Amino acid sequence: MRRLMHRTFGGPAVLELEQVPDPEPGPGEVRVRVHAAALNPVDWKIFSGTAAATSRGLEPPLGVGNDIAGVVDAVGEGVPDLAVGDRVFGSARTRAMQDRTIVDPAVERLARIPDGLDDVRASALVVAGRTAWAGVEQLHLERGETLLVNGAAGGVGVLAVQLASHRGIRVLGTASERNHDRLRVLGAEPVAYGEGLVDRLRALGGVDAVFETHGTAGIDAGIALGVPVARMVGIATKGHAGVAGVATDLAVTGALDELAALAADGTLDVPIAGTVPLEDAADAYRVLMGGHVHGKLVVDLLAG
Ligand SMILES: NC(=O)c1ccc[n+]([C@@H]2O[C@H](COP(=O)([O-])OP(=O)(O)OC[C@H]3O[C@@H](n4cnc5c(N)ncnc54)[C@H](OP(=O)(O)O)[C@@H]3O)[C@@H](O)[C@H]2O)c1
Repeated sequence: MRRLMHRTFGGPAVLELEQVPDPEPGPGEVRVRVHAAALNPVDWKIFSGTAAATSRGLEPPLGVGNDIAGVVDAVGEGVPDLAVGDRVFGSARTRAMQDRTIVDPAVERLARIPDGLDDVRASALVVAGRTAWAGVEQLHLERGETLLVNGAAGGVGVLAVQLASHRGIRVLGTASERNHDRLRVLGAEPVAYGEGLVDRLRALGGVDAVFETHGTAGIDAGIALGVPVARMVGIATKGHAGVAGVATDLAVTGALDELAALAADGTLDVPIAGTVPLEDAADAYRVLMGGHVHGKLVVDLLAG
């Protein structure tokens, strides 16, 4: 099978496609035939050798990616809940961008893909979906409150906007002008980021809570508008102004099932910026690293 991997830390140029034997599942493990693997910023933060790798003790040689969707094609001893042929999605940290991967469902949970949800969209719900779900949950939003999502057009932002809006929350979402109509469709009132953000938010009536997905500007704006630190959550910059990071542990049980059900029935739109074959994954990471992808880029392992 094909496997994307790297032997040293570095930029996308260190990524290599290699041919390796199919892995076999041990006791408690399943093998997933990966159909789609969504890209996340944490993937390149790992293969580049940032703290995302070192804090997890990850050293090359390593595979790439995390978010998978596909079908179980082999089951080890003692796995009660999964069978060959089951459609599943979930995490396979540093083992997503390959034709087949081994998952211990007791460690990295696999959720079922419901009818009505395709593999590409299912893969796009894993890290981004869990993060959006947990952040919205953590903010204890009340119907009628106003939430600022800073970085609303990205992989996490597009889902956070909808999950909050779905709960009756008014959402102000920052994005560049070209994404404003897209945000309206998702249920947010678009706001330009950059200089003057606080004034623009004040003119719109202020905000009760902040979900910061990009950097620190949303948190700083929240502070300027009198939002208590406890009503803010940040995912990209840890600890800024004492604001809590997102507690993705909150999203372990049931969140993937709930997200998949919402996506399958059309409540949740999962914007896909594009799909590429595995051979083009390094180029897709270059695009992602540019910082202006709307929604998700996904590797389609059945293409090419
Ligand atoms: N801690 C966690 O558990 C966790 C989980 C997931 C992600 N993260 C981190 O959170 C960050 C966001 O993840 P993601 O997957 O959403 O990233 P992403 O999809 O790459 O985000 C891209 C988006 O950022 C927007 N953006 C660019 N510059 C901006 C600015 N100055 N102000 C506001 N928005 C801006 C872009 O909108 P425009 O194109 O309109 O400019 C684009 O849509 C990453 O750093 C990621 O590593 C952390």
